[in-house]
Amino acid sequence: MTDLWNERAEAYRNAPEQREGEDLDRIVEWAAGAKTALDVATGGGHVARRLREAGFEVVSADPAPGMKADVICPAEHLPFADSSFDLVVTRIAPHHFEDIALAVAEMARVARERLIVEDTLYVSEVVEEAERLRDPTHVSSYSEHEWRSFLEAAGLQIEAVETYEKRHPLAEWLARTDTSEQDGARVRELLADRIEGDEYVDHKLLIRARKR
Ligand SMILES: C[S@@+](CC[C@H](N)C(=O)[O-])C[C@H]1O[C@@H](n2cnc3c(N)ncnc32)[C@H](O)[C@@H]1O
Repeated sequence: MTDLWNERAEAYRNAPEQREGEDLDRIVEWAAGAKTALDVATGGGHVARRLREAGFEVVSADPAPGMKADVICPAEHLPFADSSFDLVVTRIAPHHFEDIALAVAEMARVARERLIVEDTLYVSEVVEEAERLRDPTHVSSYSEHEWRSFLEAAGLQIEAVETYEKRHPLAEWLARTDTSEQDGARVRELLADRIEGDEYVDHKLLIRARKR
């Protein structure tokens, strides 16, 4: 899977819906008060970039060397001591994590104060099928209820939850993961009631949690 992400690195650095959005602005707002931050599954590095521009000291982490993170590691094994960072953030990535409970426990362990998580909101098994067909590295999206359970099990208290709409230009969204024409046609069929014009519309859940 890491090889796939190395090949996609440039596309994820440049994709408009990854590079920008109100969700990113909100993450920077929610980071206020912290000095140090870890960006887990940094991908194109957009959270790390925005937090650095805002004056935070940031370490980025990702298992794919092509993403050029500061530290190459999966979310499930973060090579940092307990409470190493005031804040830990992970954006639009947990649906790729092999072991979500372990990843959340690791992020909670290395955070001193706060964790901010953003990910695609679970809709249905039909949408999951489309997501996996488009991208074999898609493991699972989760509902708000599931996210609350993961975070609470890791000893975190949820402070705020928001939802953001993301609009993905379909052709570019399918091209980014090198989806074949045949699979692309099936993905369009499965997502039919979530496609508006030439855009696929999904929702991201953004959660701010504090260590107890
Ligand atoms: C969609 S990109 C991340 C987007 C990025 N955080 C942003 O804000 O634009 C998903 C990233 O998750 C990484 N990834 C996949 N499996 C992972 C895991 N188990 N632990 C941490 N990162 C993982 C991939 O290498 C990839 O860079």
